[in-house]
Amino acid sequence: MNDRNVVLIGFMGTGKTSVGKVLARRLGRDLVDVDRLIEEREKRKIKQIFEAEGEAYFRKAEKEIIGGVSERKGIVITTGGGAVLDADNISALKKNGVLVCLSASPETIFKRVQHSENRPLLRSDDKLAEIRRLLITRERFYKAADVEVATDGQTPEDTAAHIVKLMEALNA
Ligand code: S3P
Repeated sequence: MNDRNVVLIGFMGTGKTSVGKVLARRLGRDLVDVDRLIEEREKRKIKQIFEAEGEAYFRKAEKEIIGGVSERKGIVITTGGGAVLDADNISALKKNGVLVCLSASPETIFKRVQHSENRPLLRSDDKLAEIRRLLITRERFYKAADVEVATDGQTPEDTAAHIVKLMEALNA
């Protein structure tokens, strides 16, 4: 493999964080998680940032962090589910990286996120319906990826192994 970054994008609950950890370990690379960097910089949780400042403020912080991490090489980057809604973020991440979109069915996503406390965009009473609605509006943004990997019924280890093979095949 060369020094292109492997960038995991995809909807909430598609496994970006867990797969990213296994992948970075397998590749012997540093892992940079955009949401964690935002929380470190802001010294508060994403939920609190959304509550106190609103989504626009979060997106601005997200864009600044992505601009910075995209300059690095040879790392694994995990992003929040909405990072790709901004075209500048996509171009920045693509500059030194291969974009891998993790996907899953709405039902799988629901199972994975139903008890999550840190996902302010899924606070609806009908979470499954909200997941379906958001997935439809975001589908076209996730298509910016170089490859898509379905994670339904897969462990993070399975998916990471799959991505390693894909990267080898892409010589990325
Ligand atoms: C978001 C996804 C979250 C986090 C924030 C916004 C989104 O990350 O960045 O709550 O817009 O889809 P995960 O995809 O890791 O849950």
